[in-house]
Parts: sequence; structure tokens; C-alpha cells
Amino acid sequence: MKWVVGVTGASGLRLAHMFLQVLSENPGRIFERLFLVVSENAGKVAAAEGSDFDPADYGGTFELISPDDFSAPVASGSFLFDGMVVIPASMSTLGALASGFGTNLIHRCGDVCMKEGRRLILVPRETPFSLIHLENMTKLKRAGADIVPFIPSFYNQPASVEEMLRFFALRILDVMGIHQADKRRWGER
Ligand SMILES: Cc1cc2nc3c(=O)[nH]c(=O)nc-3n(C[C@H](O)[C@H](O)[C@H](O)COP(=O)(O)O)c2cc1C
Repeated sequence: MKWVVGVTGASGLRLAHMFLQVLSENPGRIFERLFLVVSENAGKVAAAEGSDFDPADYGGTFELISPDDFSAPVASGSFLFDGMVVIPASMSTLGALASGFGTNLIHRCGDVCMKEGRRLILVPRETPFSLIHLENMTKLKRAGADIVPFIPSFYNQPASVEEMLRFFALRILDVMGIHQADKRRWGER
């Protein structure tokens, strides 16, 4: 499988960090290639959040691509990849995706996913949502995207924020169609 991860400047770089870590474990050796695109604003938010998020840390697993690189393979529908997860997804990125007026590679790649009928999984982060945010999400859902906000579950009895984030990463894998055995799933023993 070939997947792209986009990281944008919404709060929650820890979400991205945990998800990238889980993908780096390459469960079942299913990932042939993984690509990572980090928006310019994500770096600013990381600094504000006191996070040490550094795309270079994932260079061993992910092919890092500049958000300005429109000649990257994932900018074209003729390059066969499975889909993209944007985590976290800012409201401005959602707006760009919903309007089709993209200005960076994350927007272009999302556009490719929608036009080619590939998976586009968005992890929006904002509160409260305005009507415009909600309408953009509705529009994107209609266009084939999955809207998967970080809404923690408690039935799995997380003992820490780390556990909460890891369980959420597992749920994103589920949406990607990658199902990992985990005893914290409801009904499992
Ligand atoms: C500390 C900080 C936190 C932010 N948190 C959010 C957020 O949770 N959701 C959001 O939509 N925008 C948030 N923003 C604003 C975005 O960074 C801004 O809209 C930017 O244009 C997003 O660009 P990008 O989607 O290309 O990364 C935040 C900005 C800063 C500086």
C-alpha cells in the first residue's frame, strides 16, 4: 500500500506524532511507500504547542515532500497511491479542499484523491465549529472524504493521554481498512 500523510497547522501535533509513529511500526509490513507532507503553518503551531515535532524524525519511514512541490508523484492521479490522511486538518485546509481552490501539495493531493475516488481521511480540529466549517465537512463527505475528528473514547479505559492517542490512531487505521488486533476493542478479551 502507498499512503500519504498531510500535517497542517491545527492544534494537536501530538495526534500527528502518534499516528506517524504507529505507521512507522508498519503493521503487517503492508506499507510499500509512505509519504509525508507538512504545511508551513504546522511548524508554527508545533512551536506554539512546545512540541518537538520535526518532519526529519520520520525520514526513515516516510518520503518527505515539501508542501510547495507540485511535481511530486502524489500530485498526479497517474501515480497510483491508496489515499491520504490529513492529521490534524485545519479549517483553512478543509476550506481549500471543499472549494477546490488549493494552493499547496496537501490540497492538490486531496483533490487527486477525490477526483480519482481514492481514500481521503480528514481529522479536523477546531471548536466550536462554525456553519461554514460544518458545511465544508458535509461537502467533503459527499465528495467521498471521511471526517474523523479526534473524539476520545473512554470504554477502552485509557490510563494516559498517550493511550488515548494510540487508540485513536488505531481507529484511523480501521477507516483506512487496516484492522489491527487489539484487546482494547469493545467486545474483545
Ligand atoms: C497555536 C495555533 C493553533 C491553531 N489551532 C488551530 C486549530 O485548532 N484549528 C484550525 O483550523 N486552525 C488553527 N490555527 C490556525 C491555522 O494555523 C491557520 O488557519 C493556517 O492558515 C492553517 O494553514 P495550513 O492548513 O496550511 O496548515 C492555529 C494557529 C496557531 C498559531
